[in-house]
Amino acid sequence: MAFSDSEAITRVGPGTPMGELMRRFWLPAAMSSEVEADGDPLRLMLLGEKLIAFRDTSGKVGIMDHRCPHRCASFFFGRNEGNGITCVYHGWKFDAEGNCIDMPNVPEDQDFKHKVKAKAYKTEERNGLIWIYMGKAEEAPALPALPPNLLPEEDVSIRFILRECNWLQAMEGDLDTSHVGFLHAGAAKAEDVADKKDHHRFVVGNRAPDYNVKDTDWGVMYGAHRPADKGETYWRIGQFLFPFWTMQPAGKFEKFIIARGWVPMDDEHMMFVVIRRNTGDPAQSGSPVVGLSHNYEFKPNTTDWYGRWRLVADEENDYLIDREVQKNDSYSGIEGLHIQDQAMCESMGAITDHSFERLAPSDIMITQVRKRLLLAARAYVKDGSLPPCAVDPSIYQDVRSGNFIVPEEQDWLDAYREKYEAADKVEDLLKPAAE
Ligand code: FES
Ligand SMILES: [Fe+2]
Repeated sequence: MAFSDSEAITRVGPGTPMGELMRRFWLPAAMSSEVEADGDPLRLMLLGEKLIAFRDTSGKVGIMDHRCPHRCASFFFGRNEGNGITCVYHGWKFDAEGNCIDMPNVPEDQDFKHKVKAKAYKTEERNGLIWIYMGKAEEAPALPALPPNLLPEEDVSIRFILRECNWLQAMEGDLDTSHVGFLHAGAAKAEDVADKKDHHRFVVGNRAPDYNVKDTDWGVMYGAHRPADKGETYWRIGQFLFPFWTMQPAGKFEKFIIARGWVPMDDEHMMFVVIRRNTGDPAQSGSPVVGLSHNYEFKPNTTDWYGRWRLVADEENDYLIDREVQKNDSYSGIEGLHIQDQAMCESMGAITDHSFERLAPSDIMITQVRKRLLLAARAYVKDGSLPPCAVDPSIYQDVRSGNFIVPEEQDWLDAYREKYEAADKVEDLLKPAAE
């Protein structure tokens, strides 16, 4: 990839092509539980901007540039009380929309608070997530109808994890499904998977699947396929959804409802945000037989811009790699699926040097998604045109991922539609249980 393309696709600050495109989409900023009414302001870094989030006395969430518009002192030190945040430098007070509601250091006859606004962004909250729109408020569409975020908070798990690298290389880990048979399950053999219902036996029995990809209104979809039992094909369907969402095929298609956001904080840091339906079925969350276990041990959060949701295993301690385990037991010697991915992505460098890489046929989804992202960013800069899902965010609601087995002669897109019709729908899950 040419350097100019590489730059255009990875950089997200104000004025960059991708940064401008991202500002036309809602971003998940924090969990609802991270800010309490009249509680401490929270430092957030998003799209290269330093922000402060707070929940006012009435419960409304405000997110704004961390600098007070008076003399730029940080609202981080502010007092969050009485339905607003007060800058402790000279006492100017702002509501959650950024209106200046008090200017106590200025004589009353010279007061100009009605002319002052903090740089506040539009926010919304839904089912445990706080969303931010960093474009012009009047251009904000509805929140994206991502299926798991339409479900009640108690029916899903939400997790945030900081990753210290560019968002694109991190997201591409979800598009590159061929790594599953190596990084995560490289030590397992098909015969280890005794349970015939555990589809991972196909993954570890054939580590070189073929891929189909297709452009869609929401982004790009792929189907990784390999032979299953006689006359059947095992499909793993995954999705890329503009601008940074993925749905990977790690569960049975009928019940699997997930969205994985690779949210850019700045060019060299991102926040992984996963929203996942709890089905109570362990088969939905990987196979213990092939070592697909999780290890989420977090450092205590700090108030730093990069201080939230940091895993204990990190670059400093080589992700706690155990070479004995690598020799005798697991393929990587690193414990935990997410940490394995994190180690690989961060080891590429803060921003991958795309002139150094040599993509393979198994990377066809990565290639296609880069192409779509680049075209979308360039088109937006040129004439303001947007991908369909940015204009109509209800498009997200019918997108699903997962794995299934169908007769080998069945077309994959027909199979996808058929499986989608038979799958659990958000509307059905929201209906009160029948008597
Ligand atoms: S800098 Fe905030 S009130 Fe003066
Ligand atoms: Fe992975």
